[in-house]
Amino acid sequence: MERPTMNLRRHASLRQLEVFEAIARLGSFKRAAQTLHVTQPTVSMQIRKLSEAVGMPLFEQVGKRVYLTDAGRSLYESCREMFGSLERFEMDVANMKGLTQGRLRLGVVTTAKYFAPRLLGGFCERYPGVDASLKVTNRERVLERLQSNEDDLYIFGQPPAGVDVEAVPFLRNPLVALAPPGHPLAGRAGVPLAELGEYPFLAREPGSGTRLAVERLCDEHGVTLRVRMELGSNEAIKQSVAAGMGVSVLSEHTLAGGGEEVAVLDLEGFPIERHWYLVYPAGKQLSVAARAFMDYLLAEGARMAESGVSEIPRSPQGGWPVGPAADREPPGPEGRS
Ligand code: PGA
Repeated sequence: MERPTMNLRRHASLRQLEVFEAIARLGSFKRAAQTLHVTQPTVSMQIRKLSEAVGMPLFEQVGKRVYLTDAGRSLYESCREMFGSLERFEMDVANMKGLTQGRLRLGVVTTAKYFAPRLLGGFCERYPGVDASLKVTNRERVLERLQSNEDDLYIFGQPPAGVDVEAVPFLRNPLVALAPPGHPLAGRAGVPLAELGEYPFLAREPGSGTRLAVERLCDEHGVTLRVRMELGSNEAIKQSVAAGMGVSVLSEHTLAGGGEEVAVLDLEGFPIERHWYLVYPAGKQLSVAARAFMDYLLAEGARMAESGVSEIPRSPQGGWPVGPAADREPPGPEGRS
């Protein structure tokens, strides 16, 4: 009797399994089609053929959502093992080829867009064979990407606490309090933090690392902010502060380009001292390109990113700080981060 695996090997293609894995991971045919840059009918056809080869349905639809059947769940497990092993094989080959070819996928939180492109640009100049991609998105989404292992490395303003990760600090990330020039708090020295709560505050969106850090400081000091508006962009906040709509707190990196007229306040507890971290899942085998990027970031990237805004903390020996655990900020009150 023919073994069932033989049937699958003969009738299913790697592409079909890739499509299947993407749907199972993303929980949607539509998102899988977008991620793989194919149409939804193509995705549906691939899954129909794969189900025929398996001889059982792989998904079931309840309302608008798709769920894995038992057979689908089992195939998903096999796919993850298989793709993991193929990735390791690709890494071995990349090792054999050195850095003449390779891929680097970097996922970063919104505020890192002020320096990450420059770092990646410098790296690509040094290693033109590496095909690099940069995904800039909100902290919650970067967390999801990390959990589903979509990129090689991530940049966070605070390493996620609920997930087992390696986190390497590589650059200071001071958060500063801002007000429009001429504001009653501007130009005063040693303003008590409580006074921040007396003015309309412009907050980043829920889930933002900047927001979490501000909330933590205010919670610690029993200060309640009067949030006037939530904005999902540092630039929109800067412009709104400059336009006199309120006070806010942003990473000092956002001020690097100049432009808007804003005053940095001398407020108790500020700047909030934080770091940027290069993060990856604990135990993940880094590709050659990812390891090279990490070395690059620690040795040279920090100097480029600093642009006179933030200094890189050096160890007493003069080296770059490595070894995350001790330096990690305590988990925030939100529990998850
Ligand atoms: P954010 O993250 O862009 O999500 O605020 C930056 C940070 O954590 O400092």
